[in-house]
Amino acid sequence: EKGGYEHFMIKEIYEQPRAIRETMSSRLAKDDSHIILDELKWTKQEMAAIKKIVVVACGTAYNAGLVGKYYLESLSRIPVEVDVASEFRYRSPLVDENTLAIVVSQSGETLDTLAALKEAKRLGAKTLAITNVVGSSISREADQVIYTWAGPEIAVASTKAYTTQLVLMSMLAIYIAGLRDTISAERSRELISGLRNLPAQLHEILEDVESIKTFAQKYGFNEDVFFIGRSLDYAVALEGALKLKEISYIHAEAYAAGELKHGTLALIIEGVPVIALATQHDVYEKTLSNIKEVKARDAVVIGIAQQGDEQINKYVDHTIFIPKADKFLAPILAVLPLQLLAYYAAVTRGCDVDKPRNLAKSVTVE
Ligand code: M6R
Repeated sequence: EKGGYEHFMIKEIYEQPRAIRETMSSRLAKDDSHIILDELKWTKQEMAAIKKIVVVACGTAYNAGLVGKYYLESLSRIPVEVDVASEFRYRSPLVDENTLAIVVSQSGETLDTLAALKEAKRLGAKTLAITNVVGSSISREADQVIYTWAGPEIAVASTKAYTTQLVLMSMLAIYIAGLRDTISAERSRELISGLRNLPAQLHEILEDVESIKTFAQKYGFNEDVFFIGRSLDYAVALEGALKLKEISYIHAEAYAAGELKHGTLALIIEGVPVIALATQHDVYEKTLSNIKEVKARDAVVIGIAQQGDEQINKYVDHTIFIPKADKFLAPILAVLPLQLLAYYAAVTRGCDVDKPRNLAKSVTVE
């Protein structure tokens, strides 16, 4: 069933162009003018009444929620909170009938996420589930559901579920912004055509993984790895660190690059690997100055940057380039090298990639 691959995880990493194409299929208008989400039955009036969105999830799905917050807030101008499900359910959340609660869960069975969904419903929120499993408990409990069409995800480490969740989140944000008239026709078209380019761009990354493999082999025996980035790159950094911890057991931490000098910089010493994401043009110069800070402490820096970036090489030890994309969509590309780094680091260390110690694919206990 692994289709010639050594592990489910690497098979699922390679399935991403297809999974994303499926998730988008029939949901992008032919002329790129709008998003089609016929599953959603909201009226313009109902959407106009929404005062707040809460996104609730665990693990990787939570990390996808952080990217979703950025999409939803920038496009629909509705305030968005993202919460870990096990926290949300026990903190008497401020949720009412003018709240839209979005739960994100690959399996649709995560107990804390299901309980958070029930709590949001009890408090009167409108609820929406983003899940990968048709008929799952979460899909049955939510008022409305949109499915990622990633296909079954077997490896404990989530990969194609994350990228399809990001794709769906971006489509949802464009859709809601359309209902609220907060997005221009031009921006909408730009993003939709950007979405269409993703499968081919992902494919491009997957065609040349040699340098990533080499870095993983070289740095796979370090005790600590740091991931830094700003804005959407920070959200992706969190996912990169989770992936590395989960399957390679390397201690990894992600920081908003601007936070480093508020404490963590003390840990950056000679030879410590730092993966620096620099795909967001609006904060690019700021990120570069953070990269200089870690370089000055003799960290080994691997930059993740957009093709065409001619500056980055001057400041980092190595660069992994991703195909050029809109800053909104760059996370969907930038996470791939991080998934691959984690995978090859785990393989180098001889870890049980598909079944990491202590973890289960679906967490149905508290
Ligand atoms: O099925 P779910 O999306 O609700 O699962 C949530 C987390 O348990 C899951 O994403 C976990 O963090 C993964 N093992 C990460 O790779």
